[in-house]
Amino acid sequence: MADANPPVAQPKTKGLFIKTYGCQMNVYDSERMRDVLKPLGYEPVDAPEQADLVVLNTCHIREKATEKMFSELGRLRDLKRQTGGEMRIAVAGCVAQAEGEEIMRRQPAVDMVVGPQAYHRLPEMIAKLARKTGDVLETDFAADEKFDALPKTREVDGPSAFLSVQEGCDKFCSFCVVPYTRGAEYSRGVDAIVAEARELARKGVSEIVLLGQNVNAWHGAAPAHDSRGGEWGLGDLIRHVAKIGGVERIRYTTSHPGDMMDDLIDAHGDVEQLAPFLHLPVQAGSDRILKAMNRKHTAEDYLRVIERVRTVRPDIAVASDFIVGFPGETDKDFEDTLALVKAVGFSQAYSFKYSARPGTPAAGMQLQVEEAVKDERLGRLQRLLNDQAQAFNDAMIGRRVKVLFSRPSRRQGQALGYSPYMQSVHVDDAARVSNSMAEVEILGATMSSLKGRLVEAEVHA
Ligand code: SAH
Ligand code: SF4
Ligand code: F3S
Repeated sequence: MADANPPVAQPKTKGLFIKTYGCQMNVYDSERMRDVLKPLGYEPVDAPEQADLVVLNTCHIREKATEKMFSELGRLRDLKRQTGGEMRIAVAGCVAQAEGEEIMRRQPAVDMVVGPQAYHRLPEMIAKLARKTGDVLETDFAADEKFDALPKTREVDGPSAFLSVQEGCDKFCSFCVVPYTRGAEYSRGVDAIVAEARELARKGVSEIVLLGQNVNAWHGAAPAHDSRGGEWGLGDLIRHVAKIGGVERIRYTTSHPGDMMDDLIDAHGDVEQLAPFLHLPVQAGSDRILKAMNRKHTAEDYLRVIERVRTVRPDIAVASDFIVGFPGETDKDFEDTLALVKAVGFSQAYSFKYSARPGTPAAGMQLQVEEAVKDERLGRLQRLLNDQAQAFNDAMIGRRVKVLFSRPSRRQGQALGYSPYMQSVHVDDAARVSNSMAEVEILGATMSSLKGRLVEAEVHA
C-alpha cells in the first residue's frame, strides 16, 4: 500500500572500505573521500567483505606499489563475484591518474577510476554508475576546484591530523612520477587552510601535520590582517597556525632542500609548537648523480642547509629518503652517499632501490644498474642508517619527553605515541594515555621505537 505522506528519504547506510597505499597525501585524501561520501550514506566498515563500495587509493611511485594494486584488484574481483556483482570497486590515487584506461581494460571488475584531483566528483560518478550513463573515469587536473569543493567539515579520529596545504610538483626529478600523477604545484590559500586548522582544533586535534608533495614550496598571498602584505612562505604559515588555540604541535612534510628558506629555518628556532623534526629527502650524496637526478642541489648545499637548521635548533632530528642504483651510479658515487650519511647523522630514513618508471627521463637512461648491485648497496646503506637510528634512540634513554598518544598499539595493553622527534614510543598504561599528550620517561630503545614509563598523563606541550 502506498504511503500518503512518505517520509523525507534518508540515504540508506552503505558500507565503505578504503584501502590506502603510498604517502601521507593519500592518507589525507582517503579521509576526505570518506567526508565526501558520508552525506550519501556511506559509513566506514572494517573489511571489504562488508562493503558496498571499495576504494583503492593507489601509489605509482615504484613498480612494486603498482603491482600490489593489481593483485589486490584480483582478490576484489573474486569478492565482487561472490556478492553477485553488487559490490562497487573504485580505483583512486596516482595509478588511477597515470594508468586509468589501462586499469579499466586489465580489470573489468573496476567500476570507477578517479584521479587525485577529482575526489569531489565521486558523488556524481556514483550517480552515473547507478544510472549506467556517462563517464566513470575522471582524471582532470584542477587542484583548486578539488579543495574548494571538498566539505568544510572534517571527521577527526584522534589528536593528530593531516592537513594538505600544497599539492603537485614542478621539480621534475628525473626518476619521479609525481609531477605527472599530481600535476603542477598548487598552494591552497591561507584562509582556507586556517579555517580547516581551526575546525580540527575545535574538534580536539592538538597536532597538525601540514602536508605537501613539496610542502616548503607552499606560498600564498598574505591575509588582510598582515600589514606587511606581500607573499607568505611556509614559515609564515606555521607561525600563523601556531596561534590557533589548542594547536600544541606542528609538523610539515615532505620538503625539498632547494626550498628551505631562511624564514622556515628560523621558525625552527622560535616557534615553540614546531616539532624538532625535519624530513628532508636528499636521495644521493654524489653531485654527479644528483645532477642526473635533476635535484638542482649538490651534496654540499644539503649539508649547509642541515648546518643552518642545527644552528637554530641543535637537537633537531633529521630524516631523509635515499635511492640506490640510479642509472650510472658507480661504486664511487655510492661511497659519496655513505659519506653524506656519516656527515649528517640521521635519526631515521627511508631507502629504496631505484625503480624505472614509465614516462620518466631516467627510465630511458643508459647504464641501468643491475639488481644484484642495487641489493648489495641497499644492504650496506641500510646497515649504516640503522646504526644511526639506534644511536639516536639510545641517546633518549633516561630522558623525559612529551609523547602524543594517538592510537592503540598493536601490542596488547600498550599505547603507541610519538615523541617530538617523531620516534614511536610504547607505554603500558594504555587506558590512561589514550588520545592525549603525556610525559614519559624513556627506558629502552630499538632502532625503530622507544619503550617508556608513564610519568604524568594529560600534560600540555
Ligand atoms: N616529494 C617528496 C617525496 C616524493 S616520493 C620529495 O621530493 O622528496 C618519496 C620518495 O620515494 C622519494 O623521496 C624517493 O626517495 C622515492 N622515489 C621516488 N621515485 C622513485 C623511483 N623511481 N625509484 C625508487 N624510489 C623512488
Ligand atoms: Fe618527485 Fe622530485 Fe617532486 Fe619530490 S621533488 S615529488 S622526488 S619530482
Ligand atoms: Fe605515491 Fe602518489 Fe604519494 S605516487 S608517494 S601516492 S604522490
